[in-house]
Amino acid sequence: MKLEAGMAAVVTGGASGLGKASAAAFAAAGLKVAIFDINDEAGEAHAKAIGGTFHHVDIMDEASVEAGFAAARAAHGQERVTLHCAMASRRGKTLGWDKESGQYKRLSTEDYAFGAEGILVASYRVASISALGMANADPVNADGERGCIILTASVAAQDGQIGQVRRAI
Ligand SMILES: NC(=O)c1ccc[n+]([C@@H]2O[C@H](COP(=O)([O-])OP(=O)(O)OC[C@H]3O[C@@H](n4cnc5c(N)ncnc54)[C@H](O)[C@@H]3O)[C@@H](O)[C@H]2O)c1
Repeated sequence: MKLEAGMAAVVTGGASGLGKASAAAFAAAGLKVAIFDINDEAGEAHAKAIGGTFHHVDIMDEASVEAGFAAARAAHGQERVTLHCAMASRRGKTLGWDKESGQYKRLSTEDYAFGAEGILVASYRVASISALGMANADPVNADGERGCIILTASVAAQDGQIGQVRRAI
């Protein structure tokens, strides 16, 4: 789908890294950008710098994400592109060497599950809430396109890394 100036965009994780750079690129292309992040200071500053809006959104929290999309749509209209860069995880190897004890220790099941929630489930949450808004909106062109959702991931999902369980996401 071709992005046009004036369209609304949502960028999760837009306070840093890939999301920050993408939010700036969208704004430079004339899109109205809403940044979702839990880093209020950096998010506010970047939104101000690119002429967008900042919304404190925790992707782990359903109500927070719902409220973020509602606020972004109230400010800019229905988003036509959602770029999901935020992720939450407690990184670690399945078995990692613990210098203190001089033994291997394992990543706890709880920490693994946190990552599954913060990457897999949160991606579904953001994408499905955005898709619902797009699907109920009018098409933006004669091809019937209504929007575009982009989920970022790591190559670690494809290629196993030493000491880590592959997380296919
Ligand atoms: N940087 C890389 O080299 C690289 C490589 C491969 C894949 N990726 C993927 O791209 C995505 C972005 O990576 P990055 O390097 O730009 O990350 P980053 O750490 O620079 O930015 C992530 C942003 O997400 C925000 N965030 C964290 N938890 C959040 C939460 N619960 N709710 C809302 N926001 C939250 C952080 O505050 C931060 O601003 C990640 O999914 C990462 O796995 C990055």
